[in-house]
Amino acid sequence: MSTLIKGGRIITAADDYVGDIYVEGERIAMLGESLDVDADRVIDASGKYVLPGCVDPHTHLDMPFGGTTTIDDVTSGQTAAAFGGTTCHVDFCIQSPGSSFADALDTWHGKRDGKQIIDMGFHIAVTDLREGGSLEELARLPEQGITSYKLFMAYKGALMVDDETLFRTMEVASQTGALVMVHAENGDLIDVLVRQALEAGNTEPLYHALTRPPEAEGEATNRAIQLAHVAGAPLYVVHVTCREAVEPIARAREAGWNVWGETCTQYFFNSLDDIAKPNFEGAKYVYSPPVRDKSNWDVLWNAVRTDALSAISTDHCAFLWDGQKTLGKDDFSKIPNGGPGLENRLHMIHEFGARAGRISLNRMVELLATSPAKLFGLYPKKGTVAVGSDADLVIFDPERKHTITAATQHSKTDYNLYEGTEVTGTPDVVLLRGNVLVEGDELVASPGIGQYVARARFGQELRAKSAIA
Ligand code: URP
Ligand code: ZN
Ligand code: ZN
Repeated sequence: MSTLIKGGRIITAADDYVGDIYVEGERIAMLGESLDVDADRVIDASGKYVLPGCVDPHTHLDMPFGGTTTIDDVTSGQTAAAFGGTTCHVDFCIQSPGSSFADALDTWHGKRDGKQIIDMGFHIAVTDLREGGSLEELARLPEQGITSYKLFMAYKGALMVDDETLFRTMEVASQTGALVMVHAENGDLIDVLVRQALEAGNTEPLYHALTRPPEAEGEATNRAIQLAHVAGAPLYVVHVTCREAVEPIARAREAGWNVWGETCTQYFFNSLDDIAKPNFEGAKYVYSPPVRDKSNWDVLWNAVRTDALSAISTDHCAFLWDGQKTLGKDDFSKIPNGGPGLENRLHMIHEFGARAGRISLNRMVELLATSPAKLFGLYPKKGTVAVGSDADLVIFDPERKHTITAATQHSKTDYNLYEGTEVTGTPDVVLLRGNVLVEGDELVASPGIGQYVARARFGQELRAKSAIA
């Protein structure tokens, strides 16, 4: 099967030009001006942008968490992703304390097998190196394409690790070519503040934010940076929300340390005003780290502009408001932490980033596709439009209007963090390895079309031929 995409404005992290793309099978075979070639299918992209499929490095599909399980499984979450122009993501495979990494991977492969709409890889989340996985087992994971180790410095009593586990994992990463990822909040401090709030009778969702102050994030971010430097491991700080965390990352990067940071769409748009909404509405905005004071929005835009932060993910971790968030109706600490986002990252960052002039279109592509692909061993198979790359492409209509609303979204959750927002610009056609997934409002592909991607080690390239396990 061959496809010719004609006359689109091709935008990568580096380039912006009008041209044709010829796709043969699953990959881009030719790029050029007015290609004179026959194809089985021709798509007219004039007046449209042609972007690389976006890559989301941070999602939680079908994950047990907070006394329940995230509402989007692989098929519903990836359908939402496809409609939002995301064609590849890296999900968290969580080690259960006391179990091996192999057990966790068996479970997570079972969740995706035959259900995928887009391509995906896994990070391993390390929770226990004493009675569960061993350092030796961890060291072997990059051979299976698991080339990032994630640790939680918060969620005491659940996923949180101590500094010894964090540091020992970093030491392994420094030897195996894995990237260490941290959820950086001081879990001990938060645990004390939560107990004090509940003892004082403060049970409303707002107290989720008030018991997780920006200092807790700043302290843990700096601690992780210093530990990674001692271990000699590269570090990626996930879901950065505030000045207190941006500053140590920016300082480390200026010093030439191997440190990167990501923020998520919601931290540019949600704030304390949302989590303070009455009638338990605020529970929709309970995720961690929490919403912040609005003054941080500009801090984050500035950070993504200057590459203090290098990627924007979704941290898609969707729960129903009615039936799951309500587990914490009388106690904010029982509200499952997490929010939806896979469907609207490109919409929101295009509208309020690129169209508003805060970032260029090239930088938008870099933040949503190219940098995540490079950092997580997917590039140049994913994350760009180049000869030899997978034909993961988004034909994006920059003039088509779209209203973001839970009523028409593809995620199974019952709310949207950006409800009612009108954007100008939305994906028209989305292709995965040359296969059309989405055409206008229709999903035209079936579960099973997406594949598992074994990722390259940190700093190495992934070439298309060897990529699929
Ligand atoms: O609240 C959040 N972010 N839930 C998902 C787990 C995590 O911390 O990323
Ligand atoms: Zn987290
Ligand atoms: Zn997360």
